[in-house]
Amino acid sequence: MNEINLTQLVHMLSDMLDLVGVDDLHHGKRVAYMCLETGRKLGFDQAQMEDLYHAALLHDCGVSSTSTHSRILKELDWAGSHEHCVRGSKLLEDQPLFNQLAPIIMLHHTHALDLDSSFPEWIATSANLIHMCDRADALMQQVSNKPWLAVRNSIRDRLIHYRTSWFMPELLDAFLAVSRPESFWLRMQSQHLGMYMAERELADNNKLVSTEQLFHVAQLAAEVVDTKSHFTACHSLGVSRFSSHLAQLAGFESEVCWHLEIAGLLHDIGKMRVPDGILEKPASLSFPERAVMLGHSFESYQILHHIHGFEDISRWGAYHHETLNGEGYPFNLTAADLDTPSRIVAIADIFQALTQERPYRPAKEPEAVIGSIQHHVKLHQIDADLVKLVVENFDECWKAAVVQS
Ligand SMILES: [Fe+2]
Ligand SMILES: [Fe+2]
Ligand SMILES: [Fe+2]
Repeated sequence: MNEINLTQLVHMLSDMLDLVGVDDLHHGKRVAYMCLETGRKLGFDQAQMEDLYHAALLHDCGVSSTSTHSRILKELDWAGSHEHCVRGSKLLEDQPLFNQLAPIIMLHHTHALDLDSSFPEWIATSANLIHMCDRADALMQQVSNKPWLAVRNSIRDRLIHYRTSWFMPELLDAFLAVSRPESFWLRMQSQHLGMYMAERELADNNKLVSTEQLFHVAQLAAEVVDTKSHFTACHSLGVSRFSSHLAQLAGFESEVCWHLEIAGLLHDIGKMRVPDGILEKPASLSFPERAVMLGHSFESYQILHHIHGFEDISRWGAYHHETLNGEGYPFNLTAADLDTPSRIVAIADIFQALTQERPYRPAKEPEAVIGSIQHHVKLHQIDADLVKLVVENFDECWKAAVVQS
């Protein structure tokens, strides 16, 4: 596998996490931008800036629910906000690449007055800086019908109100200094922010991740998206394990099986944008709701396909709702376009989902699962030979797909 650029991988996580904003897709990136600009003013060194950038992009990794995200931005201070700090921090603790950021994530809604000296200075400073920039962005979202340039002074005044109590004075003063020019606010518009991120990817071109680190990051992404609903707990992990197992049965070499494992973990990351009410609806979806749902695998593709080294992974993951008869989505591909690994993930997705309860139906027993996948073959949606292989090796396929949470 081509080596993966660390910054591209962090941006992938950030793209996925920011989808939970549904119509406002850059919360984490704006917070990271404001933190970096303020950190530079404060004279942080390069290593500190990198940790700060990653922590700011990932600060809300404990938020999978669209309604929680909207509450965090609509309310300036909220007793329940601690919950996502704990969750996010726990997720990062298990990450070899990011475990040093866990305490920062834990404290990113803690007021300055509550940060006693038991916390290492760098942790407390980074957490409070993220807290301040996060609240600045919440204020920006509360007036999103007006240009930020027009409301920047009222936002700065609101932050000044919490000097010392919520925010460390030296951090607030540095923020006030860097946010004086108009350019500070203009650069947060989507098109300019995208350029800012692309420049960072280029500058960090030589920072690469190992395959083990990549696997952990993909596991993190899977866990965040699967947590959106208790119905889908461990779905991506099951799709990943089933895909890799079926690829082995089909005789693929280990490199392909490994790519499929990553593709399975990441196949549904675009689901972060689907509102909670649609995922949990205990009845069939209305036409507009289905239209929203249909967008999720396209979102996965958009996030994955430009990552160097993900050329196969992005297709194999994001084509999971395409069918051989050309009636799948979102690209309406046909049998000629769908290689065997793509067909494997499509079967894995159907198989794993059938083993789980959904809001509109109970979990299916093994016999019913076999009946369903064979029905999909009859409709010329999924590959008959691969399904035959699944049926011949049913017990081990079932074991791979069904993961206890
Ligand atoms: Fe937060
Ligand atoms: Fe999907
Ligand atoms: Fe899926």
